[in-house]
Amino acid sequence: MEVVILADAETVGAVAADAIEALVRRKPSAVLGLATGSSPLPVYDELARRHAAAGLSFADCHGFALDEYVGLRPGHPESYREVVRREFTERVDIDPSHVHGPDGSTADVRAACAEYEAAIRAVGGIDLQILGIGTDGHIGFNEPGSSLTSRTRIKSLTEQTRADNARFFDGDVDQVPHHVITQGLGTISDARHVVLVAMGEGKAGAVRDLVEGPVRAFCPASILQMHRHVTVLVDDAAARQLELAAYYRQSYQHKPAWQGI
Ligand code: GLP
Repeated sequence: MEVVILADAETVGAVAADAIEALVRRKPSAVLGLATGSSPLPVYDELARRHAAAGLSFADCHGFALDEYVGLRPGHPESYREVVRREFTERVDIDPSHVHGPDGSTADVRAACAEYEAAIRAVGGIDLQILGIGTDGHIGFNEPGSSLTSRTRIKSLTEQTRADNARFFDGDVDQVPHHVITQGLGTISDARHVVLVAMGEGKAGAVRDLVEGPVRAFCPASILQMHRHVTVLVDDAAARQLELAAYYRQSYQHKPAWQGI
């Protein structure tokens, strides 16, 4: 696991975009795992900018959303399918038929989850998964207690997550669904490179538990300690509780330029 502490959200977005650009130039048919929430927005902004300014093309890429609410009407502006479209895919040239998300309005959740896993496998698996982190340590919507080897399935949200996400629903927690479909921790762990971004002091405890705590289902993100290629990009505020912060800073500062993240 590499921890990179950066000055601000814009720099986090630029460093993540560098890795995605390098991947897409090396492999134009790259498969991207797309997270929602506010944390990845600087990454999407930077990719959209590079698409417009430098012709970075996603035409042959595939995209898979991490998760989705269950029960929102199709086209609801806060459904993650809509958020992914609005924040990223419609701002670049990715083929809309290459962009997938779990079906939160399906009558057969089990079948939809199995189909989602099969769709990811059919394009060769996810090359680079972008992640945020919840204040309770969730990734995707894998709440505390999630099986560390779980696959795409239905989950119940904690009240903490519903309260955190109420800001997207006019501040009204009652509008936040109780159920979601999320890629599992096993699904996320299959991605070849995981790039987790976290900004702000509100994430400092979750980032500490993810990076320096024990691997345990109580902090689902801690499963990333078992992954071969994880990059954690944080700003100063989100890094505030890291015991080895000085070491992470020093390592990044002296990293060979050819290595990338
Ligand atoms: C949501 C999403 C996660 C996201 C997390 C943090 O619940 N399912 O994918 O990482 O919340 O969101 P934010 O980045 O807005 O803090």
